Amino acid sequence: MKVLGISGTLVGSKTRILVEHILQQLQQQYPECKIELLDLKEYKLELCDGRPTDQYNEDTQKVILKIEEADAFLIGTTILHGSIPSALKNLFELVPVSAFTDKFTAFAANGGNPLHYLAIENYVKPIASYLKMLSLPEYVFALSSDFDGQNRLVKETKLKEVDQFVEHYASVLQQFYKIKVGS
Ligand SMILES: Cc1cc2nc3c(=O)[nH]c(=O)nc-3n(C[C@H](O)[C@H](O)[C@H](O)COP(=O)(O)O)c2cc1C
Repeated sequence: MKVLGISGTLVGSKTRILVEHILQQLQQQYPECKIELLDLKEYKLELCDGRPTDQYNEDTQKVILKIEEADAFLIGTTILHGSIPSALKNLFELVPVSAFTDKFTAFAANGGNPLHYLAIENYVKPIASYLKMLSLPEYVFALSSDFDGQNRLVKETKLKEVDQFVEHYASVLQQFYKIKVGS
């Protein structure tokens, strides 16, 4: 089972830190899974303009391939203007629907405004449904104030919430994998 964690933003560093934290916990709970991090900041993705995949630059093709090869995802996003960053929306547009279809996905967001905790429900899940992903109902929404001055996730209640989230995510992923391999 290959799980690809996506840090879906070009802004700041807390989204990546949150995604890395969840992936580390997941590796502990589900040691057999292969985990990889895809940080959109490390790739020069072109804007989707409808070209066939092989006509995009090397970085764009590499990222599309990583998504095609993954069995499951953890999609992390910053909240910008009440929604997701354009970089993440562009990624969803670049990748063929078939690369997401029937793959198990969980979501984690980080924002500064507690009133925007529903951004995953309102903006990400509808896209996930369109792309035919299977998704964990609950998600993590971390506030900037859950991190300390060095951007470490330190808020006790949030850490506990993340632990419970990962426990459920790991358990569902393991069941999903059994069904996938037909055992
Ligand atoms: C341009 C911009 C727009 C933002 N809009 C929102 C917003 O609408 N809602 C929100 O909760 N946070 C918003 N934020 C705050 C970030 O989501 C928040 O600070 C988050 O923790 C960013 O962490 P990072 O920069 O370390 O990745 C915005 C930040 C920027 C830079």
